[in-house]
Amino acid sequence: MIPPGTLKRWKVIKLYKRAKKRIKKYLKVDFDSLELLFQDNDRNEVLRTNVIQGIPYRKQRKGGKISYAEWAHVIGIFQTLIYQNLKQKNDNIILDVGCGTGLLSMACQGVVQENGYYLGIDVIEQNIRFCKNHYKDKDHLRFQHFDVNNAMYSRENNQFRKQWPVEDEIMDMVTALSVWTHLNEEDALFYFKEIHRVLKKGGNAIVTFFYLDELYFNSLDKRKDEKGRFHNTNQLEWIFNTPAYNSENWLYPKRLKIPENAIGITKKALDKLLMHSGLTLIEYYPGNWKEQPGIYFQDVLVFQK
Ligand SMILES: C[S@@+](CC[C@H](N)C(=O)[O-])C[C@H]1O[C@@H](n2cnc3c(N)ncnc32)[C@H](O)[C@@H]1O
Repeated sequence: MIPPGTLKRWKVIKLYKRAKKRIKKYLKVDFDSLELLFQDNDRNEVLRTNVIQGIPYRKQRKGGKISYAEWAHVIGIFQTLIYQNLKQKNDNIILDVGCGTGLLSMACQGVVQENGYYLGIDVIEQNIRFCKNHYKDKDHLRFQHFDVNNAMYSRENNQFRKQWPVEDEIMDMVTALSVWTHLNEEDALFYFKEIHRVLKKGGNAIVTFFYLDELYFNSLDKRKDEKGRFHNTNQLEWIFNTPAYNSENWLYPKRLKIPENAIGITKKALDKLLMHSGLTLIEYYPGNWKEQPGIYFQDVLVFQK
């Protein structure tokens, strides 16, 4: 026997699903248009966190994270990490390498006021053009195109490995969210040294990786051909088994055509990065891509000069 009340709820769900289909069919409303209505309304209802009111519409949410909610979530995670890893809580100067369409600019907005600034650089000129326009009212946010090659994002570019447009030792912090996961060995080493060059003494860098340590190797046997326990991609997508351009310690998943699509680093690679740059590893938060709980999907590593 159907318990009382159940039928009513079931009917409502069915009617709702049917209505959704009809709206789509007859009004030709797609998700992007619905989001215009949703986001504008939602923005007005944000009460405790004004920075997330700057989250762009879907087409401009780049960087491997598309959902509005996920952007807000990731901004929150990194706002906390950035705050915790800064000595002073105001007036900071922060360089965000591979800023995409500005996700971390929102996480940095508070701690760069009043006399500091956030500088986002990216190899995709379109991203920078978007950011300059979208965040134009935010006095402390700056964006600059960094015109170099990345086989995944700017493969037509013939310039390789240039210094960042930043003076020595002026940054309180450097951030790079999902960027070293797109750098081959040569680029990774070169730009890691750049972090050391631009950081003030005692300054920290927050960089995400696919770090192939024992937690990763222990997870391999347990992985199944299904969605992750804590993320929504297939567990088998994240198996780094192929040398990226003959490197022994920078590896990518065989399924990918371009290594820079997703690159993981071994422990030896991390040692090499530290030796080469002079930075020290001070904190490591394993990511949930390793099929265990984590604060974020990728591994978050914090370095100090
Ligand atoms: C996965 S996206 C992440 C974007 C942003 N950090 C986020 O999480 O939303 C990687 C970004 O790094 C940029 N990128 C790749 N190589 C770079 C390099 N050598 N210097 C600066 N940016 C780079 C790409 O253009 C792309 O926007």
